[in-house]
This record gives sequence, structure tokens and C-alpha cells, in this order.
Amino acid sequence: MSWRYLAVATDAVLRAGRIQRERYASGVAVEYKGEIDLVTEVDRACELAILETIRARYPEHDIVTEETDLERTGSRFVWFIDPLDGTVNFAHCYPFFSASVALAVDGEIVAGAVFDPLRDELFSAERGAGSHMNGGPLRVSGARRLIESLLITGFPYDTHQRLEERLRFFNRVMGLARAVRRDGSAALDLCYVAAGRADGFWEEILKPWDMHAGRLIVEEAGGRATRLDGTPLGLGPDGVVATNGLIQEALVEALREEKPALV
Ligand code: IPD
Ligand code: CA
Ligand code: CA
Repeated sequence: MSWRYLAVATDAVLRAGRIQRERYASGVAVEYKGEIDLVTEVDRACELAILETIRARYPEHDIVTEETDLERTGSRFVWFIDPLDGTVNFAHCYPFFSASVALAVDGEIVAGAVFDPLRDELFSAERGAGSHMNGGPLRVSGARRLIESLLITGFPYDTHQRLEERLRFFNRVMGLARAVRRDGSAALDLCYVAAGRADGFWEEILKPWDMHAGRLIVEEAGGRATRLDGTPLGLGPDGVVATNGLIQEALVEALREEKPALV
């Protein structure tokens, strides 16, 4: 059954991705949500396209989406939408951004799709049926130690105001891994772990729409995704550690050593 949901998630991210590709590099109006947190007209156009796609098939399902507060009815079905993940990149014409859609049923993520329109890469997963990119199966990497790992991370929008606090995990892991990247689209970062292009990803605070599609794609590609302290992820905002599974404990441990009482 969840293949039907995945088909809708896929349609939705492809529609949003087409809008992103058309509008990329043409100059977009930017509004400020915070000092460095942006929203563009493209975020809103993509959100509308995704909402239309989901509502046309499942008008009774609940939806949690980044740019609009929608009323929840208590449905067993909840969609999580990031219409444009990597808005700062998009606004600067830095070619790394995506659209992300996931569905939870009874509190469990069952389907997720993330689309990178510039590389034409569609990442998707259905619970129990594996992860795919453009139809081909995905598999996480085989790295066994942090020192042989390429990791990715990201930072929240208040980092410039709390620099020391926000950089402590980065500083610690930088000294333990082969390399650490900051690409600017958490949804796509997670897909890169699933594809074996990176060995792990962590971020201290993410919103549900940033991570739910990507985390299922990692898990279904043979990897693991947990909270920062290694306990299971729920559906709310949280920190996340997602890896090929082989380095999960080492990365969780490295973060734990930096800050004993993780929340
Ligand atoms: C952001 C990106 C970024 C991550 C931030 C997110 P947005 O999402 O995923 O990589 O580091 O925490 O907020 O604002 O571009 O949708
Ligand atoms: Ca996001
Ligand atoms: Ca976004």
C-alpha cells in the first residue's frame, strides 16, 4: 500500500523540483524570517504545488509544512513537507538544494522522497522495500572508522549568535574524521549517506520536514538514524545522527563526549 503513498510523494517533489529548476538563477524576491533565515517566492510556489498534489489524492490527511501553519485533525496519516530545502543556497545560486516529502502512518515514517532538480536525482524509500535513486537501489558505504569517513553536518540559523556552542560538535568531529562537509540541504545530505557518497551526517537541531524523508532513505539503504544520544527518533524536532550503521556508535560517542547531558 505504501507504494501508492510513495508515488504521491514522488510526484510532489518532482513538481516542486521543476519549479526550482525553472526559477534557479533568474533572481528571486527574498523575505527574511530571521536575520539570516530566508524564505523566497519559490519556497511558497513549491509548497503550493506539493500541497495541491497531496490534497488532490488525500484531502483527509494531516500536513505539516514549513512555510504554513496548518490545522491538524488528528489523522493517522501525517505528511511532512520541506518545499525547498537549502533556501540560502538557492538564493545565492549555489547549486545544492532539494524538495522533500515524507509520510508517517500511526507515528512511523513509511514513505519518503527527495529530489535534486539540478542533478536530476530522485531519492526515495518505502518502509520495508529499500531505497532507490532514479529507480536503482541505494546502499550505504562500508567505512568502519571515523578516521576513514567523510561526514556532513549542518548548522541552525542562530549559529552566528551562539558560535562557540554551535561549533563544539564540529570541532570535536573535525579532529576525528577524514573530512567534514557543510552542504546546506539536510534532506539531500541524508540521501548522500544513503547513496554511500558520505559515511555519516549529524545536525544538532532539525525540523521534522528537514529529516523524515532522508532518514527513511538512509535506513532503507542499510544505514541507521538516531537522536544525538543514540536513542530512537520520534516525529518532532530533534538532533539527528545518521550513518552507514558501522560508524553510528563511534559518532554518537564522539558527540556524547563533547556534551554529556544531551537533550
Ligand atoms: C536548512 C537546511 C540546512 C540545515 C538547516 C535547515 P532550509 O533548511 O536543511 O542544511 O543546516 O538546519 O534549516 O531552511 O533551507 O529549508
Ligand atoms: Ca529545511
Ligand atoms: Ca525549506
